[in-house]
Amino acid sequence: MKKELHSLELTVYESEAELPPEDASLLQAALKAQEDAYAPYSEFKVGAAVLLVNGEVVIGNNQENASYPSGLCAERVAVFHAGARYPGVPILKIAIAAGSSEKPLTKPAAPCGNCRQSIFEYENKQDRPIELLLLGGAGKVYKCPSVQGLLPLAFGKEFL
Ligand code: THU
Repeated sequence: MKKELHSLELTVYESEAELPPEDASLLQAALKAQEDAYAPYSEFKVGAAVLLVNGEVVIGNNQENASYPSGLCAERVAVFHAGARYPGVPILKIAIAAGSSEKPLTKPAAPCGNCRQSIFEYENKQDRPIELLLLGGAGKVYKCPSVQGLLPLAFGKEFL
């Protein structure tokens, strides 16, 4: 028996200009956060901005370390920042910006596996989906309605 689980639903916008205003301003916050990333080792700066149901926007950016594994990705800095600053307030969306004019993206900068798992933790906890806005190549933006499309068969609290 074949079964389809959480298929990856994606809306592709050809440019930021096509985005609804709330999404465009969240992406702008992610781009601004990207500028302040601390990425002296990889020189790959990433910014993330989280929109909460209370209307607050909380940002994160990658924070690297001379002991490489001690660093953290932008997405986790952002969701942990939101969890610390506004505990229990559900997250509506996260916008993620990577790439630069010197090194433009050729495809959307999707969160790494650890970040997908961390975003899923909040989605599962709050029992409502977290939308992802990913800055793609050539100015495109990808919108995913939930992190579950990026993390099939996710491991969550229900297993413990
Ligand atoms: N990075 C992120 O911030 N988010 C991701 O989802 C992937 C990678 C960061 C980690 C590291 O500082 C740099 O990008 C290169 O991997």
